[in-house]
Amino acid sequence: TGAVASALPLAGRRVVVSAGGTREPIDPVRFLGNRSSGKQGFAIAAVAAARGAEVTLVAANADLPVPAGVSVVPVGTVLELREAVTTAAKEADVVVMAAAPADFRPAHYSGSKIKKSHDPDVPGGDESAPVIELVRNPDVLAELVQTRGSASSPFIVGFAAETGDESGSVMDHARAKLERKGCDLLVVNEVGPGKVFGQDDTTVHILQRDGSAPVVAGPAPKEAVAATLWDVIQSRL
Ligand code: CTP
Ligand code: CA
Repeated sequence: TGAVASALPLAGRRVVVSAGGTREPIDPVRFLGNRSSGKQGFAIAAVAAARGAEVTLVAANADLPVPAGVSVVPVGTVLELREAVTTAAKEADVVVMAAAPADFRPAHYSGSKIKKSHDPDVPGGDESAPVIELVRNPDVLAELVQTRGSASSPFIVGFAAETGDESGSVMDHARAKLERKGCDLLVVNEVGPGKVFGQDDTTVHILQRDGSAPVVAGPAPKEAVAATLWDVIQSRL
């Protein structure tokens, strides 16, 4: 009933969540993709809907059950994801970019299948390999922040899967990324062998741009991590 719905913490809020991994086509049978399963984004959408939000889930190549009360917009590439997210974001109170968009896409799409042998005059084909030229994709999260400008809405959440390296720790890279992106929260996963991709349990550090202390969630199932993330977001709305 209306009385019950309005008691929910996200009642009346419009939420956009992106999830999954984009696929950038090379030819009719091949693409550039990544290992994002979409599970974390779907869990975030499910928790928001259960808390009363009106949820649009922009799902890139994620073959997962649609959570109750969530409307899904399926997309394939970053350009499609950008279109769907920016359209839905215009009306949104919160945007959570949990998707893994490809940083690059092939500069040219081959309308016919790229063949192993290029030269029909060479018996058995030649031994050369094609070079696939790439171009940069737009940074959807950065665009959202830029479009918001000095307005107070939407609240914008980014994700980052980081590894430490010689130039800094996971948290060093994450802090720098939060500053660079300008989003309000950055949810940081440490990646490495056996970590994160496709796993059910996860640990994240939720960094806050306003300087508040990071919140650690997990190790726990992605639903529990999603609940903690919404607790943090709700406290900021
Ligand atoms: N993202 C985006 N558009 C892109 C790439 C990333 O909106 N083209 C978003 C992701 O959904 C995520 C955040 O930006 O919320 C961080 O993604 P990540 O790949 O970690 O950031 P990059 O700036 O691409 O940095 P890196 O070079 O480490 O990949
Ligand atoms: Ca990237």
